[in-house]
Amino acid sequence: MKGPSRPSMWQVGSELNVTGGPITAIISGKGKKMNVRVFYWSKTGNTKKVAETMAGVLGCKAESILSSCEPVSADILFLGAAVYATFNHEVNPKVSEFIGRLDPTKTGKVVLFCTGFADTAVKIMRGLLDKRGFSVAENSFFCKGKFFIFFNFGHPDGTDLENAKSFAKTESLR
Ligand SMILES: Cc1cc2nc3c(=O)[nH]c(=O)nc-3n(C[C@H](O)[C@H](O)[C@H](O)COP(=O)(O)O)c2cc1C
Repeated sequence: MKGPSRPSMWQVGSELNVTGGPITAIISGKGKKMNVRVFYWSKTGNTKKVAETMAGVLGCKAESILSSCEPVSADILFLGAAVYATFNHEVNPKVSEFIGRLDPTKTGKVVLFCTGFADTAVKIMRGLLDKRGFSVAENSFFCKGKFFIFFNFGHPDGTDLENAKSFAKTESLR
């Protein structure tokens, strides 16, 4: 006989359950509940694709930093961006503003990811977060991001996105 209906649940290993919420994933691992959120800035969609893939596997929605005006409340905050020549080879000022708005008493560990030619955006965001005293995960995620049709064509590709899933699972359990 079938038991009572349960909320959908996604399991990694034996100690982790993730229930999908609209914005926040609740991860229970080793007896502790953690709120996880995924934010991104993305102009041409590469970083957004990675963010949505990570959020999908965690059980939450990827949120654009442009739609956030409150200091984000999360135990684990995934944050992704890319650098642009048009911003002096830096991250968009909105990313710096977003980091400036974060409150260390409301946000626990920050996990960084980026797309592009190299992990420059991660390095820049790490510097900004370090200055403000945030706990930033040592590991970060980078994959190539296409730039018009000339560079990194087809990226992020299927393998990049599988790697992004594994990374998000692993970092949400650390
Ligand atoms: C107009 C433009 C300027 C870019 N400038 C740089 C740059 O200065 N340095 C760099 O490493 N990548 C640069 N890139 C590559 C982007 O960082 C890369 O394509 C990234 O994956 C874009 O992420 P997004 O699609 O999430 O915006 C540039 C891309 C574009 C379209």
